[in-house]
Amino acid sequence: MLQQTKDPSYIDLDLKLPYKVKEICLAEEGHKDMQLSEKEMPGLMAIREKYGPEKPLKGLKIMGSLHMTIQTAMLIDTLYELGADIRWASGNIFSTQDHAAAAIAEKGSAAVFAWKGETLEEFWWCTEQALIWPDGSGPDLIVDDGGDATLFVHHGVKAEKDPSILENVKGSQDEICLVDRLKVSVAEDPQRWTKIAENIRGVSEETTTGVHRLYQLAEKNELLFPAINVNDAVTKSKFDNLYGCRESLADGIKRATDVMLAGKTVVVAGYGDVGKGCAASMKGYGAIVLVTEIDPICALQAAMEGYEVVTMEEAATRGDIFVTATGNYHVITGKHIEQMKDESIICNIGHFDNEIEMSYLENNPKAVKTVVKPQVDKWTLESGRSVIVLAEGRLVNLGCATGHPSFVMSNSFSNQTLAQIKLAKEDLETKVYTLPKELDEEVARLHLKNLSVTLTKLTQEQADYLGLPVEGPYKPEHYKY
Ligand code: NAD
Ligand code: ADE
Repeated sequence: MLQQTKDPSYIDLDLKLPYKVKEICLAEEGHKDMQLSEKEMPGLMAIREKYGPEKPLKGLKIMGSLHMTIQTAMLIDTLYELGADIRWASGNIFSTQDHAAAAIAEKGSAAVFAWKGETLEEFWWCTEQALIWPDGSGPDLIVDDGGDATLFVHHGVKAEKDPSILENVKGSQDEICLVDRLKVSVAEDPQRWTKIAENIRGVSEETTTGVHRLYQLAEKNELLFPAINVNDAVTKSKFDNLYGCRESLADGIKRATDVMLAGKTVVVAGYGDVGKGCAASMKGYGAIVLVTEIDPICALQAAMEGYEVVTMEEAATRGDIFVTATGNYHVITGKHIEQMKDESIICNIGHFDNEIEMSYLENNPKAVKTVVKPQVDKWTLESGRSVIVLAEGRLVNLGCATGHPSFVMSNSFSNQTLAQIKLAKEDLETKVYTLPKELDEEVARLHLKNLSVTLTKLTQEQADYLGLPVEGPYKPEHYKY
């Protein structure tokens, strides 16, 4: 039995449960918000119209591990209209919108296991519960965000080959919870994950960090099924990561703290797609923005936009608000936190919870935590100074607000749906694919009318002059946007 699990009710799966959400009575509110999103998600609606009658996902079981928001509810309904049999868990303990989960549960388009404010034990219970169908079988397809579902299956297969990898694990609480679940699973059926993995046609991965994990698995020859890198579709990473964060970062900070951003010094760690959106947002509010970077090209880009590029050691004493956006580990450490001004605000918008060294605060007997409200904690240090930490260092835009708006998620989720159709229709090799340029342009096209964009049409003469087909694609494969 599990030794480190605190709540014994989250050990056993209950595969007969149709769903587990906070409150099913929130369904009506969820349906209304979903209806509002229809106009803002033209890509998803057009895909439903185009592929709905054909039902390319009919007979296929899809497991999703992705933030259970209103936008995700719209993705689930789209996959359902295309014929899939769906089970879903959220990608983060704080990111579920309970009315969205209730709406999906009530409608029955997916068996959903998600609520806002899960413990880590509950999170991994929900993930496993969504990975296994009532007849004991696993999914044909996975929609993943950050790689937790993919990790569960891969680690399960590894543990079935060598159960000793589950002994004496000294990782994060997250890893320990996963290992605890696998101990029970391997004891019950030492072939479960091997059989499940053999049946999986593929996974489509949403985010930068998850995609890194997939390439690492492929490099080590450990990838067990085909994978589609959705993140690197131009209409995903150059829109969701950039323009999505440009709006949802401020939403998260403001719902949590109501702080005035103008005139404050905001430190953005990482100037990739997400960092660029965050820095632009804060600058737009009138904040002074400092950027930290390890990459010379991104550092130069930041400098050319007028940001001061410094190290975290320098920024720690200057900032009022700190945002990590690197996907890296311990970018803000305890040492940095000790140097910060009183009541500095610290948050993270990268995928995992370890960009900020939270363990420095959590394991420090001299640091005292006061809960201001859910997902907003004031930590008072031995020096007498305090810092305000948002969403316990987990993604602030989904933990303290509701994530990106529907319109940008329509782009991301159109790519997700097209990736699922590709995995369903084609027998792919076990490697990591990106979506073809034609589909990327198609996703962009589906969103133009909503913004009253009129495209210029290439004449035959111009097409010949440039050596391009009149109908596109208009840029060569290697072109960077
Ligand atoms: P990216 O690779 O484009 O950018 C990350 C940047 O961080 C790079 O430029 C890298 O050089 C820099 N970096 C790495 N280590 C650093 C360090 N120690 N100090 C300073 N800079 C450092 O990735 P991205 O697409 O911008 O995504 C960043 C993170 O955000 C990922 O974890 C991704 O999964 C996540 N993400 C979150 C959301 C959200 O809604 N919260 C949306 C999209 C992506
Ligand atoms: N990632 C960022 N914003 C999101 C949203 N609104 N729904 C699902 N995933 C997201």
